[in-house]
This record gives sequence, structure tokens and C-alpha cells, in this order.
Amino acid sequence: MSGLLIRGARPYGEGEPVDVLIVDGEIREIGADLDAGDAEIVAAQGQVLLPGFVDLHTHLREPGREDTETIETGSAAAALGGYTAVFAMANTDPVADSVVVTDHVFRRGREVGLVDVHPVGAVTVGLRGERLAEMGTMAAGEAGVRVFSDDGNCVADPLIMRRALEYAHSLGVLIAQHAEEPRLTVGAVAHEGPNAARLGLAGWPRAAEESIVARDALLARDAGARVHICHASTAGTVELLKWAKAQGIAITAEVTPHHLLLDDSRLATYDAVNKVNPPLREASDAAALRQALADGVIDCVATDHAPHAEQDKCCEFAAARPGMLGLETALAIVAQTMVAPGLLDWRGVARVLSENPARIVGLDDQGRPIAVGEPANLTLVDPDAEWTVRGRELASIAQNTPFEEMTFRARVTATVLRGRITARDGAVAVRAGGF
Ligand code: DOR
Ligand code: ZN
Repeated sequence: MSGLLIRGARPYGEGEPVDVLIVDGEIREIGADLDAGDAEIVAAQGQVLLPGFVDLHTHLREPGREDTETIETGSAAAALGGYTAVFAMANTDPVADSVVVTDHVFRRGREVGLVDVHPVGAVTVGLRGERLAEMGTMAAGEAGVRVFSDDGNCVADPLIMRRALEYAHSLGVLIAQHAEEPRLTVGAVAHEGPNAARLGLAGWPRAAEESIVARDALLARDAGARVHICHASTAGTVELLKWAKAQGIAITAEVTPHHLLLDDSRLATYDAVNKVNPPLREASDAAALRQALADGVIDCVATDHAPHAEQDKCCEFAAARPGMLGLETALAIVAQTMVAPGLLDWRGVARVLSENPARIVGLDDQGRPIAVGEPANLTLVDPDAEWTVRGRELASIAQNTPFEEMTFRARVTATVLRGRITARDGAVAVRAGGF
């Protein structure tokens, strides 16, 4: 009998340490001092065992910008970050608006084998917001696309959005909206507020996001459909989500690690590593987002991992591209912003990084309980490991990160996908044998 024996970790950081025996991709036994037989032992004393993380919002850049990330390097970053499934956004080149592209991304992800790569299909052809893409064909393809998004762009036309929601409802798939009224953000590069005004940066009002969140909640209500809000960034969005959920509207939302941790005071250096869409908001918004995640008003954390080439970030602020790396730093930031101040315990971390995202997209083999008979998609976290972020040490091709030289406590030490180790102690597993 071969397999894995995780020795001495505490599931969800609760109770006494236990051993977890994994055979044939499933949890076979949980108990004290289990016999390892010929299973490989993972010493995990002092560590927290969580269900593998699921990222609903990753930009893997392949096809088209393989100079910044590929499905292979992005999968490595995901495995190192504790992820067992990621949803790869559709704003590639060519756009993932056809089954040819979505099935290609899916197959390449499977070939790499480090994380389940689920392609997100575009809602509209070419992300242009004019005509619905063939969602049904993508959903019926090999990848079985279950999330559609024009992320990077907002589906701004209310009639197109209404049709998309109706269509998605009948297909049983999810629309994830990048909520940004484009007429309110023409030329905008930073959050509209005192900081941007002082720095002379064109401002991006909260209302650009909130007006679309409110509109889409109403459209979802009328269509009887579900809608998911990408990267919620304002206190007002939190209030709207509360309102919509109280009405029984089927709305869910994600928040990024960077919006939990950072605010627009970071812009003072004009360093475009801090440029992101939606922009870093004010400290009061970040506090509201943290509270909303703790309260369940925001359902999950999603990275919006968005690698960009050095020349697209290390340039004039207005000209730089928005986006930052996220996969390898997400857990540490959630630990710092949510666990350390007591807003979430590790059970709560499992909820926002794994269970809720898996439930939102209907993955039945992810975000499962740590229990006998369940698929062994698992993440081990050392809650006391201090580490310092260095972009050049991350697995992504792009190396710029706003978290450069920041020190965090809590780090992923191992990731297990269907019983196979995909990353361990900062190294990605190499493909070998059955891998
Ligand atoms: O900052 C962002 N970067 N926000 C988005 O919506 C898109 C993303 C990207 O693709 O670079
Ligand atoms: Zn977006």
C-alpha cells in the first residue's frame, strides 16, 4: 500500500494533532499514531491542515502573454500558494470566448498537473460587450466551463448583462462581473479621494463599482439568476451586498488579499506596483471589507493574480498596467489581516479560501470536509513560519509585487492534489511516475 501519511497536523487548527492517511487519492484513515506502512510521511507537527484552496479569479496569461505567465508557471505558483483549483480568466489573447480556447486551457492545465485549471469563458465576443459569446458550447466542451466573465472589462450594457444572466441561469452556470461603469472611469488610474487629488492622479469613484453592483443585483433578482461580484473594493459595495442578500437575491462576492491589506496611501511613491483595478481604496474601505469577510457578507477570497511584465509596471503611473501577483501570498495575507486580529479562525479560513469558492462554482471534489472517504485535496499551513516576500523567488514569470520585502507569518508548507504532493517546502513537485 503506497500513499501519504500526514503526521501530527491539526485539521482546521482545532483539537489534538492527528495523523491523516491518504491512499488512492482519498483520505483513508484519521487517528493517532497511524501505521505508515510504505506510505510517504509528511512531518506536520505544529501545522494546520486545511482543505485545498480554490481561486475563482486567476489570470494565467496563456495564450498570448507567455512572457508574463504560462499555465505551467501559474500552476506552480498556485500549488506553492496552497491552491488545488484555479479559475483562469478569459482575457487572454486570443480571448477565451470559444470552446477552442477554453478546451486548450483546460487540457494544458491537466497536462501540467499541478492544480485543476478551470477556464473561465468570456461573456461577450472578444470581451467587447456587444454580443454574447457561445456560452453553451463552452459549457458543453471538454472543460465544462461553469464560470463566465469579461473580467478586465465590465459587461456594461444592461441589456446584454440581463441576457447573459438569463442564459447563464438556463445553462446552470455563473456570471462573474467585473463591476465598473466605464463611463465613470474614463482616464482613471487611482481611487478618487484625497490621496489621488494630492498626487494629481485621475480618480476612480466608488460609484463606478457600486452602481454596477446595485444594477446587477436587480437584474439577477428579475432573472431569478445568480451573479458573482469580482474583487469587491468599497464599503458601499459591502452595504449593497448586505441589502441584496437580505432580499434573497442570489448574489455572491469575492475580495482580494490586496484589498484586505493595502490602501491608497501606498500611492505616494507613484510606484505602479500598487496600480490595480479596482484601485486600492481608503483604509476605511479595507476595514469594511475585512469585517464583511468575517461576517459572511463577502463569501470568499480570490486573488486576481494578474502578472505583468516589468516594462508594463516600471513606468509612468498612468501608463502602467493594473494588476499584481497574488497566488503565493494570499494565505499569508489572510492570516495577517483576518486570523491575527481574531476576525477569522482557521475554520473560517477554510471557509473563505476553499469551501465557499468551491460551493459558488459547484465543484464537488473541492472544499470538502477533512474526513475519511473524502478526496485528498489538502493544504498544510505552518502558522508560525516567518518569511519575507521576494518577487524574484516567486514561481511566476513576472516578478514585480507590492509585497516585496514584506515579512509575513504563516506559510503554505505542502499542497496535496488527489493524494499527490504538488508543492512542498517551497518547491514544486516534479512530474514523475504517475504524476
Ligand atoms: O488589476 C487588474 N488586472 N484588474 C483586472 O480586472 C484585470 C487584471 C489583468 O488582467 O491584468
Ligand atoms: Zn477584474
